Amino acid sequence: MIERILPPYVTAVEAFTDPPGARLFPEERAVVAGAAQGRRREFTTVRHCARLALGTLGRPPVPLLPDADGAPRWPEGVVGSMTHCRGGYRAAAVALRSAARAVGVDAEPHRPLRDGVLATVARPAERARQAGLRRADAAVCWDRLLFCAKEAVYKAWFPLTGVWLGFHDVEVDFEPRGDVFRARVVAGHGADEPAFSDGRLCGRWVVGHGLAAAAVVLPSPLPGPGIV
Ligand SMILES: CC(C)(COP(=O)(O)OP(=O)(O)OC[C@H]1O[C@@H](n2cnc3c(N)ncnc32)[C@H](O)[C@@H]1OP(=O)(O)O)[C@@H](O)C(=O)NCCC(=O)NCCS
Repeated sequence: MIERILPPYVTAVEAFTDPPGARLFPEERAVVAGAAQGRRREFTTVRHCARLALGTLGRPPVPLLPDADGAPRWPEGVVGSMTHCRGGYRAAAVALRSAARAVGVDAEPHRPLRDGVLATVARPAERARQAGLRRADAAVCWDRLLFCAKEAVYKAWFPLTGVWLGFHDVEVDFEPRGDVFRARVVAGHGADEPAFSDGRLCGRWVVGHGLAAAAVVLPSPLPGPGIV
């Protein structure tokens, strides 16, 4: 599913259940040694997916450890992103750094946010646009998609800038038709990083299998704003 919203130079591998054969390296096992079983499962399967994806780039299987902020440390010359969500979905997307500067993917159950959560996630302009989006396509949970898009932005943004973003630091605008969204990082949040010189990013979204997923890719070398 997720490969539909990624350019051909980004390889994605996804899983809808946890395969029994997936294994961790000892140093990865140590990271989740004290974690609940569900967390160990998602951590294991998504790394299984990531290693399969790295294999398509000609890269051998290596441990994929989180850094101090939780961002995955990819092998030299590789960028990528991972997501997992309730229901068993896991996905990893990777690219050579020569092709992409940053990748961010996120998946969520495709259902409305709990009451009150939209106010936490959405800036006023985004809230104002929700009704129009629902009129354009009532089958899409636009509030959940907004959340998902912002998480994908963050996962691409953070490894490049080291700057944490709150939900109100990013404004997402979905195109009324198609699967494209534009995201603007509010000034003063690491927008001096050259890749984000105008603070703008482009992403795509997909809904299917009971899930909402979003992806943001910054191509390399940069012709301008990130385009998936
Ligand atoms: C990090 C975060 C985005 C993860 O999203 P999530 O929906 O909770 O969980 P997902 O399963 O989709 O993603 C988890 C994966 O994200 C990756 N991740 C975690 N921290 C990350 C970071 N700082 N940068 C990039 N990727 C990160 C990891 O690979 C993690 O999986 P792993 O722990 O198995 O390695 C979220 O927990 C968070 O901290 N959000 C606050 C910041 C934010 O989203 N701000 C609003 C954006 S504008």
